[in-house]
Amino acid sequence: MSGMEGKELRVVGFLCNWCSYGGADTAGVSRFKQPTDLRIIRVPCSGRVDPLFVVKAFMEGADGVLVSGCHPRDCHYAEGNFYARRRLEVLKRFLPFMGIEPDRFAYTWVSASEGARWQKVVTDFTAQVHALGPRRAFGEGAGSGGTG
Ligand code: FES
Repeated sequence: MSGMEGKELRVVGFLCNWCSYGGADTAGVSRFKQPTDLRIIRVPCSGRVDPLFVVKAFMEGADGVLVSGCHPRDCHYAEGNFYARRRLEVLKRFLPFMGIEPDRFAYTWVSASEGARWQKVVTDFTAQVHALGPRRAFGEGAGSGGTG
């Protein structure tokens, strides 16, 4: 469970339809205990996740964003996850320039049969986001404070 019992954060998960969404479903059907912070957006493939989707999620108030697809060489579209990996790795390096801690973002691979792995991934990532706490909104930097 997360470090902030009873206090949910906003974690957005982009899950590929063919593997990770199935893995999350397997975890649910198996009744594995999971944090309730995650809001899942099902995408056809991790390669469909434009890095701007991640940025947009943060702009709209997400505290953390997780992308999960099929394992390398298991992508339903052959190489979508290879494109995803390249783009998301670059994105991860840019996040600090946008004032977003890199630990608020992760990408991983979970297959449809890996319900237990999904449980671990979502539990660990949610705990990581909880350790950082709620994210400050854009433009709410140190010293900007309220004007009451
Ligand atoms: Fe799952 Fe491409 S179909 S990552």
